[in-house]
Amino acid sequence: MKSTLINGPPSPLHVAIIMDGNGRWAAARGLPRTAGHRQGARAVRRVVEAAPGLGVGTLTLFAFSADNWKRPVSEVRALLRLFRTTLASEQGRLVARGVRLSVIGRRDRLPRPLVAAIMRAQRATAGGRVLHLRVAVDYSARDAIVEAARHLGSRALVNRTCFARRLGQASGDAGAPDVDLLIRTGGDQRLSDFLLWESAYAELVFTRKAWPAFGPADLRAALGQFARRERRFGGLARAVAP
Ligand code: IPE
Ligand code: IPE
Ligand code: MG
Repeated sequence: MKSTLINGPPSPLHVAIIMDGNGRWAAARGLPRTAGHRQGARAVRRVVEAAPGLGVGTLTLFAFSADNWKRPVSEVRALLRLFRTTLASEQGRLVARGVRLSVIGRRDRLPRPLVAAIMRAQRATAGGRVLHLRVAVDYSARDAIVEAARHLGSRALVNRTCFARRLGQASGDAGAPDVDLLIRTGGDQRLSDFLLWESAYAELVFTRKAWPAFGPADLRAALGQFARRERRFGGLARAVAP
């Protein structure tokens, strides 16, 4: 069964993107790594604007992993400052486009002004119905799973549905459907602790293109690959006779 052949209007997709390759993009141009991050923020805007028109209902972007604290403090500071200024400058545009923003991940290690900017932007965009944009900051999928398990404790009635709901809450968000398509830019082919539970049956697309160079045409191309994939979820292809 191809996703394009599903009867009725196709349901909006959940696309997740590991936005990688900012530093290498900048280095290849003789620029500091932070210039790559700034250009990466512009790519986010382009992709967010294009996503609804391409059938995407939920877009989860990996912006800063719990392991990225290992980087030099100057790069971490520059990134956190970029998140804060971008949130403030993009807030009006997100509201105008009907985008609801959720920032998932830990909050307790983020600078207070950034947490305040996150809260403001989430509040301002809460009525958005066109696209659910989730940005993962200080995020670790394994930590989120451990946190959800800790909350549910030894309750006998734990099942996949309530675990997934709890996992959404543990990520700081009411949750989202499973990931349909997971894209990683920058040439590496790994998950780096991103959405491990939610991507159980995600289609994976890896591109060598660095994130700052990624645009709507690349998203369209990845969705084209997705549409040609056969998702079987452990079952059999529709063409196979019983
Ligand atoms: C992705 O680009 C952005 C973050 C992880 C914050 P990188 O900064 O990892 O760029 P590369 O992979 O070193 O090129
Ligand atoms: C993954 O990229 C995290 C983000 C894109 C935010 P990394 O650059 O941190 O991943 P590794 O270290 O190459 O696995
Ligand atoms: Mg990287």
